[in-house]
Amino acid sequence: MAVLRKLPSLSILSLVALVILVVEPYESLSSSRKSVHSGFKTDYNGVGSGMCASAVTVHGYKCQEFEVTTDDGYILSVQRIPEGRVGGAGGPKTNRQPVLLQHGVLVDGVTWLQNSPAQSPAMILADNGFDVWISNVRGTRYSRRHVTLDPDSADYWNWTWDDLVVHDLPALVDLVFKQTGQKIHYIGHSMGTLIALASFSEGKQIDKVKSAALLSPVAYLSHMTTALGDVAARAFVSEITTIFGLAEFNPRGEPVSDFLKVLCAQAGVDCYDLITALTGKNCCLNASTVDHFLKNEPQSTSTKNLVHLSQTVRDGVLSKYDYGSNDFNQAHYGETKPPRYNLTNIPHDFPLFLSYGGQDALSDVQDVGILLDNLKYHDVEKLHVQYIKDYAHADFIIGITAKDIVYNQIISFFRNQG
Ligand SMILES: *[C@@H]1O[C@H](CO)[C@@H](O)[C@H](O)[C@H]1NC(C)=O
Ligand SMILES: *[C@@H]1O[C@H](CO)[C@@H](O)[C@H](O)[C@H]1NC(C)=O
Ligand SMILES: *[C@@H]1O[C@H](CO)[C@@H](O)[C@H](O)[C@H]1NC(C)=O
Repeated sequence: MAVLRKLPSLSILSLVALVILVVEPYESLSSSRKSVHSGFKTDYNGVGSGMCASAVTVHGYKCQEFEVTTDDGYILSVQRIPEGRVGGAGGPKTNRQPVLLQHGVLVDGVTWLQNSPAQSPAMILADNGFDVWISNVRGTRYSRRHVTLDPDSADYWNWTWDDLVVHDLPALVDLVFKQTGQKIHYIGHSMGTLIALASFSEGKQIDKVKSAALLSPVAYLSHMTTALGDVAARAFVSEITTIFGLAEFNPRGEPVSDFLKVLCAQAGVDCYDLITALTGKNCCLNASTVDHFLKNEPQSTSTKNLVHLSQTVRDGVLSKYDYGSNDFNQAHYGETKPPRYNLTNIPHDFPLFLSYGGQDALSDVQDVGILLDNLKYHDVEKLHVQYIKDYAHADFIIGITAKDIVYNQIISFFRNQG
């Protein structure tokens, strides 16, 4: 741990910030006062321990497990809820439209199934006649496999969200498209919005996607308003990689939790209050759901992915991964700077539903403003924007009021796309 003492507190805080950006919302209303260092003890049960069995069929829904291999060899697990509990009484009996649910960073597809069926987006969509597909990106518990690479090796973790754009999303969209023979409605949360926006801006997937609903949209990250967010924005990411290497970032693992313990103590901060201050106050979480959630999440991601996200915080622009030197960037991209994703290039007639919250410190209102500015030439009738004053990051996926406030609007929006 000696190395930790040498780190400037700036980078110490920035790592805390990165870790808790997504983790914290699920803790904030937890009945027991948990710190960031505990409560993540569920073992990885490996493949086939069955999200379907543990989170879907228990509620009386049909559920199918799929797997799909990306063109770079990652084997992803996908769950499908083909119809509602009572045959989808609320929707059409045939020709159910497929919806692909894409989770954010440090979580997995379980994120859509945490509340009761009447409150969980995946089951609400099924009950409304949609054919629901749940993605789990590389490195998460059910998608921790590769055709040749060992998930315990650093090579397996050599990727960022750029690779989700290039490899995972195409594999997932193709799977659903081929299985259903229909164009897909997409719902993303947090990083699940980022990879969709990046893909659409390059004209990718857009031919197979009918419309997209983006919850807590994340494209720009430079306006996190809290003191800690500000620190993260100016962070030097190199120290983080010095400690962990460009390998697995496992928030349940001892190195990360030990690291956080030391950092919180050294920085003289109460991490609980700090993270609340950083991520915003979720209005509408159920404490039992939060406890349940903590048994499943957070999931691993790659350190390189967190570095890439922190580059977005630091640089205020949306670019591919910055290899850190002109030479390395030149070797990878043929340019000295990483290429930008230009969101103004998203086709203006592509149906988009955006929902963002006034209390969301990760998807900050000002940063969403920049995104909306990128979309200012979008066809007005194809862009539906919803602002929810009281919502923070987690309210959009596990908020107990989200059905009435958000999901019903999404369902109407999808139905209106014909
Ligand atoms: C990681 O992947 C990149 C290509 O995306 C490659 O250039 C680099 O050598 C890889 N790094 C390691 C440590 O394997
Ligand atoms: C919160 O979750 C518990 C356990 O699932 C459930 O019994 C309770 O009804 C939920 N409360 C609300 C307000 O939804
Ligand atoms: C993005 O693309 C638009 C038009 O396609 C162009 O006018 C604009 O300069 C581009 N922005 C950046 C940052 O490259």
